[in-house]
Amino acid sequence: MKYKACLFDLDGVLVDTAIYHFQAWRTLGKQFDFELSHEQNEELKGISRVESLDKILHWAQFQATQEQKDIWLKEKNETYLELISHMNPSEILPGVLSFLKQLKDQGYLIALGSASKNAQIILEKTGLITWFQAIIDGNKVTKSKPDPEVFLKGAEALACSPANCIVFEDAQAGIDAAKAGGMKVVGIGSSAILFGADKIIPSFNDIQVSDLLLL
Ligand code: BG6
Ligand code: MG
Repeated sequence: MKYKACLFDLDGVLVDTAIYHFQAWRTLGKQFDFELSHEQNEELKGISRVESLDKILHWAQFQATQEQKDIWLKEKNETYLELISHMNPSEILPGVLSFLKQLKDQGYLIALGSASKNAQIILEKTGLITWFQAIIDGNKVTKSKPDPEVFLKGAEALACSPANCIVFEDAQAGIDAAKAGGMKVVGIGSSAILFGADKIIPSFNDIQVSDLLLL
């Protein structure tokens, strides 16, 4: 088999949590009179919570002390945790389960590579957790995408070489991370905003496991 493992980003690839991150940042932004736009939210995809707050404060032209930032990071996450507490399997994105099943049936290894520190809870609430042989999340990395650390650790956990791995990503930072790690990457979304992927698909309804051999 040309490829042995598939590494999945979580937010925006397996589940549509981007809307919850957006809502939680908008709620927080009210404290310093800032309304995050959808375009700005796009730039927050794939990057860590700390980096996201720094970007937001930069856009809002707001200087904050480290103490204040720590309070806001905690508050943002509390709002986010409340929003995701209602998540269930119906929020798995279209085509994902059937694709995971095909992968498993054909002997591929499956890992998660996400910047989120809340990945475990989302995988549990949606029931997705049973599909993964390895889970690398924001608690296990020191460098954020576009650094390849999260995917290299995923490949290592599966005992696969990067050249045998395919990454699925919805964020530009994640596509860049996969490429920096020497992996193939399938972008989920639109070719108008995602660059450098080996293939772009609108959703998992638009791909079969046999298509991977053409990458
Ligand atoms: C990424 C999301 O998966 O995780 C980002 O795309 C988010 O938007 C990041 O900021 C960190 O998530 P969390 O759950 O640790 O705040
Ligand atoms: Mg994502």
